[in-house]
Amino acid sequence: MTSATTATAERPVATAAASESPASTAAPVSLRRVGRAFAAPDGGTREVLRDIDLEVGAGEIVAILGPSGCGKSTLLRIIAGLDHPTAGHVAIDGSAVRAYDVRCAVGFQEPRLLPWRSIERNVALGLPRGTARRDGRDHVARLLELVGLADFAGHRPHEVSGGMAQRASLARALARNPEVLLLDEPFGALDALTRLKMQDLLLDVHAAEPTTVLLVTHDVDEALQLADRIVLLGSDDGRPGADIRQTVVVPGHRPRDRGSAELAELRGRLLDGLGIDRHGAARGIPATTTIPHYPY
Ligand SMILES: Nc1ncnc2c1ncn2[C@@H]1O[C@H](COP(=O)(O)OP(=O)(O)OP(=O)(O)O)[C@@H](O)[C@H]1O
Ligand SMILES: [Mg+2]
Repeated sequence: MTSATTATAERPVATAAASESPASTAAPVSLRRVGRAFAAPDGGTREVLRDIDLEVGAGEIVAILGPSGCGKSTLLRIIAGLDHPTAGHVAIDGSAVRAYDVRCAVGFQEPRLLPWRSIERNVALGLPRGTARRDGRDHVARLLELVGLADFAGHRPHEVSGGMAQRASLARALARNPEVLLLDEPFGALDALTRLKMQDLLLDVHAAEPTTVLLVTHDVDEALQLADRIVLLGSDDGRPGADIRQTVVVPGHRPRDRGSAELAELRGRLLDGLGIDRHGAARGIPATTTIPHYPY
């Protein structure tokens, strides 16, 4: 729905004013033996996820990679309390996740803004219930500044570019001071240049508004730029359901050198793990980071 960008979609920079926002507290996330099976049309069940063990530290950024259909969105939904596991359990800061857990905020591939509301009023939708009007107004103003939309507060979603709408969506997710920010391919619908700017923005935001981030992406390079750790979901042993195939610690402080040999080596390993031919480029096949479909 929103792949357009404009010359105004410059990368905003987190400002001192923005960093004065009410502090959010990043919380650790713990997944123990998490599984999810869905009812199948034949009356049985189909296992999508199995035996997911993952400890995410407070403030950590973890990227989740895996073939399309392997259960990445399902996993995020379970962590957010929007879906429930059929095995195992999930805790945030040591206590079980509740339905629609208020400690989490979720950002999606498309901005999902209400078209009749201004950008400012869309962002305000993310404020915790009971926020005093004045505090809410101040918080929203700081967030709009953080994501570079202060001058577009009164615009409607159709009056801004795709990248700007996605920044508004990110600000709305941050408005509730989430302890855990769950992002499901948040930049997937954006053009390549805007995507790079959004990646930098996410790092600025993470520095200004500390929160634990779980990021689903189809883009191996995006994962390497943003994440402390990358978790590769998949299944290669013929069993139904995806589990964690690999966990990779990404070396180096952010922002990372996109051309470093170390990252290139990791990129190759991840592409191998995803079953993508990394030597295709040498034979004239684009070195795509598009991940194949899961064989359901
Ligand atoms: N509510 C549901 N009922 C039945 N099956 C479901 C439900 N939600 C998800 N699934 C199935 O679970 C599998 C994983 O879906 P999910 O959306 O988590 O995959 P994904 O890894 O996010 O894929 P993509 O990369 O394409 O977004 C799919 O086969 C999907 O059809
Ligand atoms: Mg998905």
